[in-house]
Amino acid sequence: VAAPGETLRKDESGITCIKKCIHSIVEYFLLAVEKDRRKSLYAVQTERQEQARRSVLISCPARTNEKKFLKYLSRHGDIKNYFFYESYGVYAVVEFANQESVASLLEGTDVPSISHESMVPFKSRLLSLKNLGSVDSPKQQLGKQCQSQTTPPINELIQRLSKEESIDQQVTSLTEAYQLTEENSRLRFLVCSLLSDIAAAYFPESIIKPFGSSVNGFGKLGCDLDMFLDLDGITGKRANMPQSDLSLEYQMKRANSERAVTQSILSVIGECVDQFGPGCVGVQKILNARCPLVRFAHQPSGFQCDLTANNRVAMKSTELLYLYGELDPRVRCLVFTVRCWARAHGITSSIPGAWITNFSLTIMVLFFLQKRSPPIIPTLNHLRDLAGPADQSVIEGNDCTFVSDFSKIQLQNNTETLEQLLREFFDFYATFAFSKMSINIRKGKEQNKPEVAMLHIQNPFETSLNVSKNVNASQLERFVALCQESSWLFQQSETNTPRGGKGGNTSTPWGLAAILLPSQVSGVKSRKRRKREPASERIKSLLESLKSNSQQKQKKT
Ligand code: CTP
Ligand code: MG
Repeated sequence: VAAPGETLRKDESGITCIKKCIHSIVEYFLLAVEKDRRKSLYAVQTERQEQARRSVLISCPARTNEKKFLKYLSRHGDIKNYFFYESYGVYAVVEFANQESVASLLEGTDVPSISHESMVPFKSRLLSLKNLGSVDSPKQQLGKQCQSQTTPPINELIQRLSKEESIDQQVTSLTEAYQLTEENSRLRFLVCSLLSDIAAAYFPESIIKPFGSSVNGFGKLGCDLDMFLDLDGITGKRANMPQSDLSLEYQMKRANSERAVTQSILSVIGECVDQFGPGCVGVQKILNARCPLVRFAHQPSGFQCDLTANNRVAMKSTELLYLYGELDPRVRCLVFTVRCWARAHGITSSIPGAWITNFSLTIMVLFFLQKRSPPIIPTLNHLRDLAGPADQSVIEGNDCTFVSDFSKIQLQNNTETLEQLLREFFDFYATFAFSKMSINIRKGKEQNKPEVAMLHIQNPFETSLNVSKNVNASQLERFVALCQESSWLFQQSETNTPRGGKGGNTSTPWGLAAILLPSQVSGVKSRKRRKREPASERIKSLLESLKSNSQQKQKKT
C-alpha cells in the first residue's frame, strides 16, 4: 500500500510503515473523491449563470485607483470576486455576493449626459466608471494585473515550447497557454447574461446560454462565443398542476414552421441587439443559413458572437464533447495540440470556406482515440447504452441519449504517452482511406461512405448529416500532406532531440515546436527553407520513409 515512489524499506520502523500506509490510504480516497467531483456540464453552466447574474462589467479609466474603486462598489454589498482585463481600454468584471447589490448599484448609477448626441435609454449591467476627483499617481493605480484574454502569438509559443524538455511537456505547456482561463470563462457567461437581459424584453423567461468551444472544454482564448436563446422556460409544460376538467392555454400566433419561428425571433432580437445593445457592433442577421443566426462583435469583451435559437442538438454535441474531454486528460491536450497545429498551417481558418473546421478536427481526434488499442475513450453507442432513464433525449427525431453520470463509465487501461499519441495521430490520418471511409464516433469504427463527399464525418446526433460537407479536395489533400510531413518530421532524430533546455540560451525549435513551423508541402511554403533542398526531394524522402514505416507496421501485424 505504499504510495507511488514511496517504497517501504526493510529497516524502517513499524510506526513509519503505518504512517506511510495511512498516508497512502488517505491519498487513495482523496483521489477517488476528486474523480467523482467532476461536474456535469449542466451543473457547471448553472453555477456560472448564477455567478454572472451577480456580476457587472465596468469600463474603467486608465488611471483607476483599485482600492478606491472597490471601496466605492462595496457600499452596495460584499464583492466576492473581481478582475481587470484590457480590450479597447481597461474593464473590470465585478461579482457581488448577492444579486441585491447589483440592483442597488444600478439604482445609484447615472444616465450619461451628452449634449450633441441622443442616447438610447436602455439600461444594462455594462457601466462606465467616471473619476470626478483628482487623478491618482501611477503608484496608486491598478494593483491587480490586467488578465490577458488572448493566446500568445505563434512565434512566442514556438519559443516557449522549444525550451521544454520533453514532447509531453510541450503538449501540456501548449494546452496551458491556449485553454480558456477562469476569468475568460466568467466573461463569456457574463456576456451571455447581458444579452439575456436584452432578450428578456420580449421573452422574460428566456435565457441565453453559451455552447460550442466556450464551454465544451476545447475552447482556446479568443475563440468565438456561440450562444443560443433557450426558450424552453416558456414552452415547457407546467408540471404538478392539479388535474381538473378545465384548463387554460395561451393564445399564440401560429407560423408555418419551427424554422420560421426561429427566424422571426432571431430577427427581432437581432434588431434589438443592433439598436439598443450597448457595446454590440457590426450586427449581421444570417437568417437563411441551415442554422439561422445573428452575428456581431461585443466590443467590451472583444468576443465575436454567434447567437442562434432552437439549437438543442448543438447543445447536446457540446455536452458530449465536454464529457469526452473530462474522461481522460490526454483528450483535451491532444485536441488543443491538433487544433493549434492545424491553425498554424492554415488548415483551419476563422473565415468560413472549404476548410476543415475545429469541430470536425475534434471529432477526428476523438475517433482516433477510440481506435487506440485499448481504446482511450468509449464509443458514443456505448455511452448511450450506459444511459439511465433521466438521460433519455430525442430532439427532432434524433436520438441524443447518452450517459451523464461519469462514474458509470469504465475506462480501459491505456498508458500511451502524449508524445506517442501525437505521432500516431499523424500516422493514422496520413494513411486513412478518406476516399472510401467515413469517420464515425458513434460506432468507433470507420464505415463505408454513404454519399459522395471528399471528407465524410458523421454528425454524432443528426446521423444523416456530414459535419465536413464543406471540405473540398485540395483542403483534404493539404491536411493529408501535412499529416505525412509531421509524421516524417517526428521520425527525424533532429526533431526529437530536446535543444536549448530551460536554462539554455538557445532554443532551436524541436519536437512539437518543429512541427508548428511553416511547412514545406502545404500552400504556405517558406522560401528560405525551400532553397536548402528541392521540394521534390523532400517529398520523395517523405514518401519513402512513410512506405518503410507502413511496411514495418505490416510486419508487426
Ligand atoms: N456544431 C454541430 N455541427 C456542425 C457544426 C457545429 O453540431 N456541423 C455544433 C458543435 O457543438 C460545435 C458548435 O456547434 O461545438 C459550435 O460550432 P463552431 O463555432 O463551428 O465550433 P466550435 O466547437 O465552437 O469551435 P471554434 O473554437 O472553432 O469556434
Ligand atoms: Mg465556436
